[in-house]
Amino acid sequence: MIATSIERAVALLRGGDVVAFPTETVYGLGAIAFDANAVAKIFERKGRPRFDPLIVHAPTPEEAFRLCDRVPSIARRLAEAFWPGPLTLVLRKHPSIPDLVTAGLPSVGIRVPAHPVAQSLLTALEAPLAAPSANRFGKVSPTTAEHVFLDLGTSIPMILDGGPCQRGIESTIVSLLEETPRLLRPGSIAIEELQTVVGNIAVSHGETDSRLSPGQQKSHYAPRTPMQPLAEAARPRSGERVGLLAIAPMSSEGYAAVEVLSPNGDLREAATKLFAALRRLDSQRLDRIVCQLAPLRGLGAAINDRLLRGCQPASLEAQGPTTPT
Ligand code: TXA
Ligand code: MG
Repeated sequence: MIATSIERAVALLRGGDVVAFPTETVYGLGAIAFDANAVAKIFERKGRPRFDPLIVHAPTPEEAFRLCDRVPSIARRLAEAFWPGPLTLVLRKHPSIPDLVTAGLPSVGIRVPAHPVAQSLLTALEAPLAAPSANRFGKVSPTTAEHVFLDLGTSIPMILDGGPCQRGIESTIVSLLEETPRLLRPGSIAIEELQTVVGNIAVSHGETDSRLSPGQQKSHYAPRTPMQPLAEAARPRSGERVGLLAIAPMSSEGYAAVEVLSPNGDLREAATKLFAALRRLDSQRLDRIVCQLAPLRGLGAAINDRLLRGCQPASLEAQGPTTPT
């Protein structure tokens, strides 16, 4: 059910159930982080393998840091600069967090979301929420309550509606487990912005560093329709139905469906609109989708990360049932 009652969401969560809720990045599927039975429902409803850890959301930096064992000063500097907002910090976990949340890792990903509905929910709940994106595992993340409904439908009791997400791309994930901060996932905060606060940042690539950040599989964001980068794609042949996903206006002759993410090539706007546009193209029974990549600066890194993952065929994990470990 799509609804707007915070009280009802709180009652369901306190009763050990899951609720989808809006954040500024994408919709999350939440359960009280200390309630392992409720967290198990997240994995089950999403079809998510249990090796893929969840991010825990708290209303304030103080509450978020209470979930960690040791908080280095660099974490406080980043929190000061970017929270509330789309930054996830990976720190040593506090023993109170169930192993299921962190997939058995000794660390936890924490974030203070900026969305007013997420803030109201967390404040009223008086407990942190473990929440991955509210989509079936391996599908495109949801940026509206309707997207959540299309993916998870009646398998969850409530979708808290907060309108379309303002950022549209998931949070940037930074690990602070080593001396030098390490970017685990490019996201809504550009690496250049992080560098202004912390200087040097190491960059991980999900596939090669899957131990550091499980869940960053190559094909995590795949639409059903095969997708290719423009530079590698053949022009549409006659009789072929090809969709074009463009960052900025470009020649679209021969394409059966076209989505232009930003009239001026503004990357913030393109990020906000990316997942909804990809879903629209994916619903049009196209033979393939061709995507224009973004310039590699600012949010371009996060946009291209999602597009290039979407170009990989769906992984076995994404197709199979939940791993019962
Ligand atoms: O914007 C977002 O981050 C959204 C909203 C709902 O907050 N959430 C989100 O969650 O994108 P999800 O589950 O789709 O992605 C979480 C990813 C995991 O796949 C993993 O790569 C990383 O976060 N992660 C979580 N905890 C971690 C940890 N302890 N160590 C390393 N990586 C971790
Ligand atoms: Mg996700």
